[in-house]
Amino acid sequence: MKPFAFSVEAQSGRARVACLFTPHGVVETPLFMPVGTQGSVKGLLPKDLKEIGSQILLANTYHLLLRPGPERVRALGGLHGFAGWRGPWLTDSGGFQVMSLGHLRRIDEEGVVFQNHLDGSLIRLTPERSLAVQEALGADIVMAFDECPPYPASRDYLKASLERTLRWLERSLKAKTREDQALFGITQGGTDPELRRLSTEETLRFDLPGYAIGGLAVGEPKEAMFRIVELSTRLLPEARPRYLMGVGHPEDLVAAMGLGVDLFDCVYPTRTGRFGSALVPEGRLNLKNARFLEEKGPLEEGCDCYACQTFSRGYIAHLVRAGEMLGGILLSLHNLRYLHRLTEEARRAIREGTYGDFARAFAERRFGKEV
Ligand code: GUN
Ligand code: ZN
Repeated sequence: MKPFAFSVEAQSGRARVACLFTPHGVVETPLFMPVGTQGSVKGLLPKDLKEIGSQILLANTYHLLLRPGPERVRALGGLHGFAGWRGPWLTDSGGFQVMSLGHLRRIDEEGVVFQNHLDGSLIRLTPERSLAVQEALGADIVMAFDECPPYPASRDYLKASLERTLRWLERSLKAKTREDQALFGITQGGTDPELRRLSTEETLRFDLPGYAIGGLAVGEPKEAMFRIVELSTRLLPEARPRYLMGVGHPEDLVAAMGLGVDLFDCVYPTRTGRFGSALVPEGRLNLKNARFLEEKGPLEEGCDCYACQTFSRGYIAHLVRAGEMLGGILLSLHNLRYLHRLTEEARRAIREGTYGDFARAFAERRFGKEV
């Protein structure tokens, strides 16, 4: 199979199951991509990620540019050799992290200037530099350098910003030299339907191997986000993967898969795990709550993950209280397995043509009763 071929295998309503071929393996969508910002999914071994069904990991250009530096990663075998995960990788382009981490100094046509949070030095990131770094890191999928405006932003700012992001996309494409990496474009335009349509239509003119919906999950109301996801998946081609960036709450995955989104990433499952919470069908359990100290059962009845197969809620609640790192590790493992099972079950339902029933059953357990 041609690398980066994308073949839709089944459809149920607008939800679909597809295979995305990369140089380091085939991934089946819809799927959730664990975030390994520094080339490591916090607390989890690559062999554990493989066991729970992770298919592709995400790493960040911004962090790896600052430390250990792209040339060091390249010399140590690129992300695949460096980080011990031999399957597919995706790297984000850095623009979003510059904004969200708040070290931005200046943004202009050329790119962004930000302060290195490690040593205070000034660093310039441009589309060309982002692509050069992403080529050194060697991920299978690389992202165009974009600007994710804050929410709320004025219509004038959103329009100027999305137009600049389009010019940056053109520069990202020109800067790309490797044939074994797919470059995905990112649409912007905030929650303004007209601007989002403009951004999407103009991005589509580049005929890319995949498209991401950016600029969402930045504090806007959920209805506004889903109106834009709905509009976006209607405009994006059936024959290309669609990636909703930064979304990872289970109920949002179920809704977005129903609208035809294929790929997701978010720090949520691992971060909330490190903070002591477990994702379960009924919602989120805060293991710091004293009632869990006495519970003999697993985090989630019926879960096949190592944490649920081996330990009680009482033990994990104890680890969380005692500040033991194993608590965060077990919760991160379970939470990622929970999201992987959610997409596995979604894929099964799509193949059976019953995605609507799947989404209704999910909502009934999630919202129908108290945890
Ligand atoms: N992660 C979440 N949202 C975004 C976005 O708009 N752009 C990029 N590059 N990464 C993101
Ligand atoms: Zn589990």
